[in-house]
Amino acid sequence: MSFDRSLKIAPSILSADFANFGKECEAIEAQGADWVHVDVMDGHFVPNITFGPATCAAIRPHIKGVMDVHLMIAPVDPYIEAFAKAGADVITAHVEAGPHIHRTLQAIRAAGAKAGVALNPGTPASAVEYLLDMVDLVCVMTVNPGFGGQKFIHSQVEKVRQLRQMIGERPIHIEIDGGVDPTTAPLVVEAGADVLVAGSAVFRGGSVTDPTPYGDNMRAIRSACSS
Ligand code: DX5
Ligand code: ZN
Repeated sequence: MSFDRSLKIAPSILSADFANFGKECEAIEAQGADWVHVDVMDGHFVPNITFGPATCAAIRPHIKGVMDVHLMIAPVDPYIEAFAKAGADVITAHVEAGPHIHRTLQAIRAAGAKAGVALNPGTPASAVEYLLDMVDLVCVMTVNPGFGGQKFIHSQVEKVRQLRQMIGERPIHIEIDGGVDPTTAPLVVEAGADVLVAGSAVFRGGSVTDPTPYGDNMRAIRSACSS
């Protein structure tokens, strides 16, 4: 996985057809997705449950590019090895998930994955100040994690700007997760984000049998960011 700051769209399969994950991953990649974002929820750290490492391993052969696994679970450490073995390229843990995020990030890299750290909307940018030399990605949550289809929280744009300044020349992606659509995407890209997670705004109107809307939706986000 090479590093660059070009704009990347990472559809979240939280908005996909859960009975057809393999085909959905293939469809979004064929329609132009850069990464595939996989939301793991435990019903404890967030008030919703999705799936675990076995599902990640099952969908891995259906993804040609980057599998970006967002862990909304606590504790994190006992499961890192399993998600790495499932084929995650990026494993992101929340700074709020426990007292030892530094150790968690070390463990993610030791397991052979790129390490991401996510910040809930109420957590300041400064929470990652002493982690920047050990991460490959900072994920700014622009909704409270747990559900797709929520409204973008505008106060987070300033946090993205702060993080972009803190990161400087380090090879660290800034990822935005929650409420990304053609209206909100340009705000965070202008502030310094390069990876845009989008669930409802990508999957809206399409299906595995009619995936062209996925491509149209991704193009709408990209073109909003380039004008
Ligand atoms: C929220 C998840 C997101 C979510 C985004 O807890 O981490 O990845 O699926 O969904 P939208 O784009 O619909 O806000
Ligand atoms: Zn996510």
